[in-house]
Formats: sequence, structure tokens, C-alpha cells
Amino acid sequence: MSDLSKATLLKQGAEAKIYVIDFLGKPCIVKERFQKTYRHPDLDKSLTAQRTKSEIRSMLRCRTNGIRTPVIYFVDQIKNLIYMEYIQDSVTVRDYVTAIQNNPDGDTHLLEALMQKVGSTLATMHEKNIIHGDLTTSNMLLRNPPEELNLILIDFGLGYIENLAEDKGVDLYVLERAFLSTHPNTEALFELLLQSYAKDYGKGAVEVLRKLDEVRQRGRKRTMVG
Ligand SMILES: Nc1ncnc2c1ncn2[C@@H]1O[C@H](COP(=O)(O)OP(=O)(O)OP(=O)(O)O)[C@@H](O)[C@H]1O
Ligand SMILES: [Mg+2]
Repeated sequence: MSDLSKATLLKQGAEAKIYVIDFLGKPCIVKERFQKTYRHPDLDKSLTAQRTKSEIRSMLRCRTNGIRTPVIYFVDQIKNLIYMEYIQDSVTVRDYVTAIQNNPDGDTHLLEALMQKVGSTLATMHEKNIIHGDLTTSNMLLRNPPEELNLILIDFGLGYIENLAEDKGVDLYVLERAFLSTHPNTEALFELLLQSYAKDYGKGAVEVLRKLDEVRQRGRKRTMVG
């Protein structure tokens, strides 16, 4: 497609480089998964291809079920590139929560509403049996203006389809760990997220939250032993 050596590098994550280009007149992100030199080249190739495939599949499944993810414009399966809608002027939920927390006049009601929004979005996602696999507040964007809480989920490279309560519980556990360590003193806020998740998920939520509790306890035991 285009020559990425001339494209603007927006971010370099742990897994991928994020470029910004113009795609047929539209602002576009190109996500390029780069080679990991510590992995065997064959294994690296197949893992990269698999992640690209998982990402596209989960994003499409989200979009067909009303969960916002960037529109996919084009996929290069040879070079493992995903061309997708660039959510311009967006802010990650991570940066937004940090900004509100650090502002003495920060709107705590807005923070609560955001937690509810995240909870209900994840409920819809899990109801459709989509497991994200890497839920963190950096993998959630808010379209500008952020107060409108227009939430967009990204980074589905570890995503898959599964109907097991255990997998959904682990998905929430990953988020809980990331959330509480990134944003101090947010236990009550995370509880709001879970309440909203439970309310919107309906009957199946009890089982998922029970699994979440089990995984937490396993985590605690591991910490005590280790
Ligand atoms: N479609 C998009 N629109 C706007 N910004 C984006 C988009 N996709 C990714 N980004 C930005 O690039 C960052 C990294 O993207 P992504 O999470 O998909 O890659 P990653 O390699 O897994 O990164 P990390 O290791 O940091 O999680 C995001 O946190 C976000 O700030
Ligand atoms: Mg990410």
C-alpha cells in the first residue's frame, strides 16, 4: 500500500508501531506489528499473523454488535498491517482518569459516569462472547470531547471468542489489576464499573463475578507464596 518509511510515527507500543497516514483522504492509523528478535523467527511470524487476524476478527464482531471500535479500512496480511480509522484528538481513558484525579476541581461525577460506561460496554462485549485479552485503560479511547463518554475499544490482538465465565472473569481481573495499579485509590470506582457490568449483563453476570473472585483469590495465594 503506502510507504511507511515516510509516514508519521504516532506511538511505539510494546507490540506495534502506530503510524498516521492519509488513506483515500481519510485520517488513518497503520498498526504494524514488528519483529521480536528474542523469538524464533518462525514462531514470531506465526504469532504476529495470529494476532493480526485476532485483532481484525474481534474488532469486526464488536462493530456488528454495537460496540465501538475503529473502522477497519484495509488489511495487509503479508506485512501484517492493519489500516484503521484514526480517532483524532482522542484521549485514552488512562490519561483522562489521571487528569481528573490530579485536578482538585476534577468532576468526580464524570468519573463515575465513565466507570459505568466502561462497565456496560464490557457487559455487551462479554454477552457477545468477545474476550478482549488485554483490558487496560490505555486500550480504551474517548472521542473528543471526552465528556460525551464516547468510548472506543482498541488493541484486540489477544482477543478471541469464548462463552466461558472463567475467561470473562479473567478479562475483568486483568483490567482490575491494571486499573488499581495505574490509578491509586480507585477501589470504589472499580466497584461501580462492576455494578454497571452486572446490571447490564443480566443473569450470566453472577457466574462471571464469582469467577473473578476465584481468580483474585488465586492471585492472592500466589503473592503470598511468591
Ligand atoms: N485508531 C486509533 N486512533 C487513535 N489512536 C490510536 C488508535 N489506535 C491506537 N492508538 C494509540 O496508540 C496506542 C497504542 O496502540 P495499541 O494499543 O493498539 O498498540 P500496542 O502496541 O498494543 O500498544 P501498547 O503496548 O502501548 O498497548 C494507543 O494507546 C492509542 O493511544
Ligand atoms: Mg495497547
